[in-house]
Amino acid sequence: MPYVESKFDPKDMQFRPLGPKLAGLKVSLFSLGGWLTYGGTQKGNIVKECMEAAWSHGINFFDTAEVYAQGECEVEMGNAFKELNWPRDEYVLSTKVFFGTGRKEPNTRGLSKKHIVEGLKSSLARLQHSYVDVVFAHRYDPEIPMKEIVEAFTQTINMNLAYYWGTSEWSAEQILEAHEIAEKYNLIAPVVEQPQYNAFHRERFEKEYAPCWEKGMGSTIWSPLASGILTGKYDKGIPEGSRFATNKDFFKDSAAKLQSEEGQAKLEKVRQMGKIAEKIGGNTTQLALAWAAKNPNVSTVILGASKPEQVHDNCKALELLPKLTDDIMKEIEDILKNKP
Ligand SMILES: NC(=O)c1ccc[n+]([C@@H]2O[C@H](COP(=O)([O-])OP(=O)(O)OC[C@H]3O[C@@H](n4cnc5c(N)ncnc54)[C@H](OP(=O)(O)O)[C@@H]3O)[C@@H](O)[C@H]2O)c1
Repeated sequence: MPYVESKFDPKDMQFRPLGPKLAGLKVSLFSLGGWLTYGGTQKGNIVKECMEAAWSHGINFFDTAEVYAQGECEVEMGNAFKELNWPRDEYVLSTKVFFGTGRKEPNTRGLSKKHIVEGLKSSLARLQHSYVDVVFAHRYDPEIPMKEIVEAFTQTINMNLAYYWGTSEWSAEQILEAHEIAEKYNLIAPVVEQPQYNAFHRERFEKEYAPCWEKGMGSTIWSPLASGILTGKYDKGIPEGSRFATNKDFFKDSAAKLQSEEGQAKLEKVRQMGKIAEKIGGNTTQLALAWAAKNPNVSTVILGASKPEQVHDNCKALELLPKLTDDIMKEIEDILKNKP
């Protein structure tokens, strides 16, 4: 093998296994994803700068999907990877198939064997990569037999297009069925789930998925800041340039909900969390991220960032982690009052 010059410095980053009993791949506790940002609101140099900022903090895991900006996210991140020229064995890359890239033909989306294999190949072409480390089924597809789905993901691994496969927002029952099928037919089972998890969205992660964690699966969690609500930035309305403003139609309902009694109560909880954050030497955003990372069933917290400064700000969450003592966790629980 030719000599490869290392370009990765883990700094103070922590690493956890992708799937504690099923996949030993080590992923940084914080990672970076491109939903709505890369190829969407952000294009060109800034994508590379955000990825570089992540890398500078010891982040080795990057996440995208075929559907993000209808394939443009993969194009932008692929171009950035090419320019950054990091050794391929030093970073972990995942993409997701299911939603397609917006085309209307029935076989250019979903979880048929055809779309899983061809969709992943198209993603790889956009990314300018020959494989991803992890391919996710972005949602469950009730129209396809489970055996076909498990067989197709096994095939992507046997074709060296991916090393592992995972699910995203499947029910625990569906995930366990995939495991049963894999066992019965000697196929490869999913090792990781990608669910939403943040201080306002806990039920599924903390309750329903318990049997999946027992099986040894890990998780790559999304929207740890509830799309920015947990930064406190929506405290006094919708700031110009923020996600709720730049993706107005998509977040129309979420923005309206913030005005309701329930929404205002949420914002008050964010304010209270801010006070705790200040007491332990951080800010609201960092506390929300550290809170999610504290859960041992989280393999990695996928950050979203429209600017490199956000990545730098968010990675300071690592410093807050050891300060989340039992007493502080109880104080947070007393504010949230939503433990499932
Ligand atoms: N599997 C799935 O179904 C699924 C679904 C969604 C996401 N994901 C993955 O998870 C990743 C993260 O999700 P997400 O982007 O929703 O995460 P998030 O952390 O909830 O929201 C990220 C957004 O919050 C704002 N923000 C972040 N840090 C900030 C800071 N320090 N100060 C102020 N604002 C800040 C930025 O938006 P603005 O600057 O634009 O306001 C940023 O784009 C995605 O990129 C994607 O890879 C997966």
